[in-house]
Parts: sequence; structure tokens; C-alpha cells
Amino acid sequence: MKTALVTGITGQDGAYLAQLLLSKGYKVVGMASRRVNQSYINLERLGIQDQINIVYADLTDQCSINNVINEAQPDEVYNLGAMSYVGLSWQKPAYTSLVNGMGVLYILEAVKNFCPHAKIYQASTSEMYGNSAGSDPKNELTPFVPRSPYGCAKAFAHNLAVNYRESYGMFVCCGILFNHESPLRGLEFVTRKITHGIAQIKLGLADEIVLGNLDAKRDWGFAGDYVEGMWLMMQQDEPEDYVLATGKTKSIHDFLHAAFTAADIKPYAPYIVQDPKFMRPAELHVLLGDPTKAKEKLGWEPKVDFNQLVRLMVEEDMKLLS
Ligand code: GDD
Repeated sequence: MKTALVTGITGQDGAYLAQLLLSKGYKVVGMASRRVNQSYINLERLGIQDQINIVYADLTDQCSINNVINEAQPDEVYNLGAMSYVGLSWQKPAYTSLVNGMGVLYILEAVKNFCPHAKIYQASTSEMYGNSAGSDPKNELTPFVPRSPYGCAKAFAHNLAVNYRESYGMFVCCGILFNHESPLRGLEFVTRKITHGIAQIKLGLADEIVLGNLDAKRDWGFAGDYVEGMWLMMQQDEPEDYVLATGKTKSIHDFLHAAFTAADIKPYAPYIVQDPKFMRPAELHVLLGDPTKAKEKLGWEPKVDFNQLVRLMVEEDMKLLS
């Protein structure tokens, strides 16, 4: 039986990845930071909370990372833990840099020193690209020009991961994932904010959704598909970096249209209020990824398309609130 250590086990990706690994017969050790009121709701919604060995450690605490990796002796480490909300990274730039940047250094060092046989997956992100103009769709060779403290910290971590692979011959692969959503998405992210807001409107619990910039475009896929890509990267003979994306981009307006249509409400404009407090100091206007390498080398392709994803999220939020 292989052992996988998953940081960020309580998040959307942690839950879906744990479910996948359990179905493949792994022992899953899930790292949680044991914050006050830590929620295990995502694991509960997938019905897998009792099958995960939860350990407590924090990406800002090197001793705790050393201890967890030394004790678990995992075959595979999936570093999904992060301060993942880009908008908040302007308010908490130092914390974001510690968790998303230094935390990765601690993992790399701990594996090098205490568990050198372990393979590492690092959750890199399309936020690292920034607006790198004229380079769409973005692939593994597109330069990083990050536009947020979040993106800067992730780019630092990505470069470190590549450096440890090259310097020490460690198996470290980075998945450069474009936005991936699901019914387990946190309520602070725009897609879930919209689908949850629509369910509230439909049930008479709210009459508006307050948003920021509606013109930004994202390459949105289904998180359940993306965790399969993570696992596939770790099963290769050689560690490499891969873009996971759908190859299509849609605006927030497009998402609103599809989500309100799925809920049978038209038009959507009367329900939307814009508030500058949800605008970002520097916006990333368009994200569009090129998943060709993942398709050719891993045989990975997204299965759930944009409209299916939106409908799934709206339906699940309706069920949840009903
Ligand atoms: N969160 C949020 N809330 N975003 C809004 C809102 C709002 O009320 N209104 C408009 N937006 C716009 C943001 O300005 C951004 O352009 C877009 O919606 C998407 O925002 P998020 O859903 O917060 O996602 P993100 O693209 O910033 O980051 C996500 O994807 C990255 C991959 O590119 C996160 O999952 C990151 O952790 C991930 O790395």
C-alpha cells in the first residue's frame, strides 16, 4: 500500500484528490493546520472523513513539516496547502509569501533530508503568468509575470521546485493549473459566490449578488478532472511540469449568464451589484491555457465542460440550501 501525504486536505482539491487516492488503494495522510473552527466539510460531503489520517502541521512552521514527513514516510507528497485566495493576498502579503513560498521550501528540505524516496507534487498556478501579453494560450514555456502577491509567492515556489529537481535529482513535478471549480469551491471564489448566491435568490433568501470586475476571463475546468492530472504526473518515470486547462476562456459575464440560465432566471443583470471592494489593485484580465503537453504525455483531458460544470454547481447549491 502506498502512502500519500496531502497538505491542504480540507480544501476543494485536497478532498477530491484524497477521494481519488483512496479509490486507488492509497493510505492517505492529510495535513491540516488545526486553525480555530477548522472545517472538514469537504471531506464530509464526499463521505471520506473517516478514511483519512489527519495530522496537524503548518506550512509556516518548519519543525512541524519535518516531523510530519519524517513520521509519515510518504511515497508521494501533494502540496496543495496554500493561502489560495488571490484577492486576500494584497491584504496579507507576508503571510501569503510565508505559506505559499517558504512553506514549499520547508517541504523540499524535509523530503530531501528525511524522506528522499518521496515524490513531490507542487501546486503551481496560472496566476504566475500574470498578463504576459500576446502569449495566449499559455503553456509550460510561457514566462511568468505575476500580478499579485499570491502569484509572486507561487512563482518563487515554482522556481524552487524546479531548482531542487535540477540540483538534487529529486522527483518534483509542478502542475500549472488554471482555475478549477466544483460544488466544494470556497464561497469566496467568484464561481461559487455566484452559484450559491443564485440558490439564495431562487429560495427567496437574498435578492442580489455583490461582485467586482465582471470583464475578467478565466479558463475554468472541473476540479475532479484536475486531481486526476496531478496523480498522473506523479506516476511518470521522469518529473516534469504540466499545464492543466480546458483551452477555452469565458468571462464572469459568461459565467453569470450560464448560471442564471441553469436556474431558469433571466435576465441576470437586475440581480448583480458591483462594489469596488471586490476589485483588485492589479487585475489579471485573461487566462487561457494550452493543455497539449498533458494530453500527449499523460493522456489527460478534461471531461466536464463549462456548461456542465456551471449546472452541477447551481444544482448542488440548490440542494444544499433547500
Ligand atoms: N473572488 C472574487 N469575488 N472574484 C471576483 C469577484 C468577487 O466578488 N468579482 C469579480 N471577480 C473576478 C476577480 O477579479 C478575478 O478576475 C476572477 O473573478 C476570478 O477570481 P477568483 O474566483 O477569486 O479566482 P482567481 O482567478 O483569482 O484565483 C483562482 O484561480 C487560480 C488559478 O489561476 C484561485 O483558485 C487561485 O488559488 C488559483 O491559483
